[in-house]
This record gives sequence, structure tokens and C-alpha cells, in this order.
Amino acid sequence: MAQLWGGRFTKETDRMVYDFNASISFDKRLLHQDIEGSIAHVVMLAKQGILTIEEKDAIVKGLTGIERDVEDGKLVVDLSCEDVHSFVEANLIERIGEAGKKLHTGRSRNDQVALDMRLYTREQVIVTDTLLKELLKVILDTMEQNLETYMPGFTHLQKAQPITLAHHYGAYFEMFKRDRGRLKDIFYRMNYCPLGAGALAGTTYPLDRNYTASLLGFEGPTLNSIDSVADRDYLIEFLSALSTIMMHLSRFSEEIIIWNSNEYQFVEIDDAYSTGSSIMPQKKNPDIAELVRGKTGRVYGALVSLLTTMKGIPLAYNKDMQEDKEMTFDAMDTVQDCLNLFTGMLRTMRFHKERMEKSAMNGFTNATDAADYLVGRGVPFRDAHGIIGKLVLYCIEKETSIERLSLEELQAISDKFGPDIYDAVSLKTCVEKRLTTGGPGSKAMKQVIEQHKTYLAGKDLTEDHEE
Ligand code: ARG
Repeated sequence: MAQLWGGRFTKETDRMVYDFNASISFDKRLLHQDIEGSIAHVVMLAKQGILTIEEKDAIVKGLTGIERDVEDGKLVVDLSCEDVHSFVEANLIERIGEAGKKLHTGRSRNDQVALDMRLYTREQVIVTDTLLKELLKVILDTMEQNLETYMPGFTHLQKAQPITLAHHYGAYFEMFKRDRGRLKDIFYRMNYCPLGAGALAGTTYPLDRNYTASLLGFEGPTLNSIDSVADRDYLIEFLSALSTIMMHLSRFSEEIIIWNSNEYQFVEIDDAYSTGSSIMPQKKNPDIAELVRGKTGRVYGALVSLLTTMKGIPLAYNKDMQEDKEMTFDAMDTVQDCLNLFTGMLRTMRFHKERMEKSAMNGFTNATDAADYLVGRGVPFRDAHGIIGKLVLYCIEKETSIERLSLEELQAISDKFGPDIYDAVSLKTCVEKRLTTGGPGSKAMKQVIEQHKTYLAGKDLTEDHEE
């Protein structure tokens, strides 16, 4: 049991208490951030004359050595330590002796862990953003190639109006673009350095918090030492953004599962992204899409878990806050895996365009356009709606569709129908005439696609930051 305290205790910690309290099994993931933060801290301490240059150099060398040795497998993180901070400090003292004992000058584990977690999360925000960008590129490619791939658009999972595959994918482009916007907001809001807050009330050492912040790439230091060690809002915001990403991926997965079903057969998921059944040889299952849909639950769980953990904690640090890590790490990993796999699945998925088009042809997806045709001939919309309703009923009885009726049949229902009705209700016309911004007509879509290209060619999260 290696711990950083014990002076005021008369007994050893009970073994079970020690294990229950320890966090090294999961916070060892913060080793790199812990060392990076410690190096910045001692560089600042030396600049302020709190440590000598020799002491600083010895500590930096020792810390760099620890990181290198762990990376090379020469040093294994000692799971008998209480947490990653204790492990690094104990190992440093072992390596460099007395100077190592000065590392923690003007610092508490409270501001240290607040910093480590921020550094780690900031990196994860960037990684997630990069993965979202990859997904957006695949979506945009598919959009460009399918401006005239007609398919039914749905409401209530009932065929509603014809659209194109480009248009449908365009909806997901908007969602994942908004997700990136959320990450950007989070990045800028969280990018302040809590180090120097001490346990909660700052420190009497003349620390230069601006300097430490700039060494670590932060905008500046946080401005209240109590909040610095008690704040986990940025994690909650990130988990919320991750939950929203999963919600979007899950909706998309659900659609792919439907499209991949025997009944629809709109798409064929690549063999590399499908799985078989142990008993039914004919099966090719959309397991990846199902798992992405399923894993949404655990990411939501992490968000609700942390919200609940934080809700009753008096200021400032309390040990409850150690619970900010395990489920958050799991959520970060889960979303990255899901984004990676989902993007690969989309990239390799094939579309059965004829089936999609055929599906759009039946189900009266052109009924609104037939009503609009009558409006164009002076019939008020409400009346036109009624007339086409009757027409649809007639078609259902005759097991046919509007465009297959003869002109006489049409005119028996309304004398406003002329021979140009057939063109007006053709799939192509129905789609191509919808040219309002955001609509499926290819002219409208092309303009949106141009905007998307400009957006994707624009600055990424950290490039913006460097300005
Ligand atoms: N393992 C702790 C955590 O994750 C580190 C901070 C410990 N601070 C303390 N006052 N016990 O929150």
C-alpha cells in the first residue's frame, strides 16, 4: 500500500477500505496527463524561484523517464498505489531522491486531478471531433453520388413523399455537423487551467498560474479556486454531447436495420460488417448497427450517473467526485468505437437503387403533388385534398396507382385533370420541383452540398484555437 498520507494516523488503513478508496485501476489512464501537468508545474515553480533550476531539471528528467519506461514496458504501473498521482510521486522519489519530494509543492491532488481530467477530456473532444468529420465526409460522398436516387420519404414509418437518398443522408449531415458544433463549444468553455487552486483555497506560494496555463495550452487559469476543484460541468457537457451523438447514430442504425431487412432490401451491408447465425445458414445480420443502437444506453447511463453523483456535493472537493472517471472513460471509448465502425459500415454499404425507386412509386407518395396540380388549376387546396383522397381510395380498390389511371378515370373524379397530370405526378417531377432551400430537388441539394464542402474544408477545432 503506497499512499501519500499517514502522518496523523495511528493505524494502518483497513485493506478493504484501502481497495474501496483506491482509483489506480482506472486512473492509470491519466499517466501521461499527470506527468505533463507535473512538468508544467515544476517549470513554473522554478521560474518563480520556488524550486532551484537543478531541482526542476532533476524532476523533469525523472518524470520523463517514468513515462518512457512505462511506454517501453520497463516499468509497470504499480496497482498497489492509491492512485496514479501517488504512483508517479513514489516512483519519482525512488529515482531521484530528495528533489522528488518537492514536486507537490503548492499543489493538492484536488487541483492535480482536476487538471489531469481536463487535459484528458480536451484530447478526447478533439479525437471525437475528428471521427465525426470522417463520418461527415462519407455522408457527403454518398450525397453527391445520389442526387437522383429516388426513395420514399417517411412519416410515421409510412410512405409520405418521394425524396432522394442524397436528401435523406443530408439530414444526418446536419445532425453530425451540430454535434461538432457542440464539441467546439465545450472545447472553448473548458479550456481553462485549474492548477494552482490547491486543495480549494489557492496557495501562499507565489505561483504564476497564467504561465502554467499557457505551458499546457489553456486560454488562461480558472478564476475561482473553489470552483476549479469542484467543477465537473465540462464532463457533463461532454457526456451530453456524446449522448446526442449516440442518439443520432442509433436513429441512423435503426434505419439501416430496416433498410437491410428482407422486406425493404434497400441496402446491402458489406460482408465485412455483417455477422452470421450459428443455426440459420442463410442469415446475414446487421449486428454492428444493432450494437451501436444498443450501446447508446450505456452512454446515456454515464451522463445520468455523473449528473446524479454531482447533484448533492457540497463545495469543494469530495471523494464522490472520483466517480467521474470509470463511466466517463467507458462512454468516451464507446463513442469512438461506434463512430469508427459506423463510418466503415456506411462507406462499404451498397444501395439497391431500383428497389428504392420502385418503393417510392407505390404508396401514393405523389398524392400531395396530385393535389398541388389541382391547386394549379384553380381548385382550393382543401378541396383538392378531398378530391385526391377519393382518387386514392379508388386506386386502392382497383389495386393501382394514380399515374396508372386513364385520363377518363381521372376526369370522372375531377374535370380539372388534363394530360399533363402524368408528368406532374412522375417521381422525377415530384422531387425536382421541390426546390425550396433544404428541399430534395437536385438544384437545391447542389447548393447545400457546396456549403457542406466549404464547411468541411474550413478550420478544424484546434486550428481555430491556434489563431
Ligand atoms: N483519486 C482522486 C480522484 O479521482 C484524486 C483526488 C484525491 N483527493 C483527495 N482529497 N483525496 O478524485
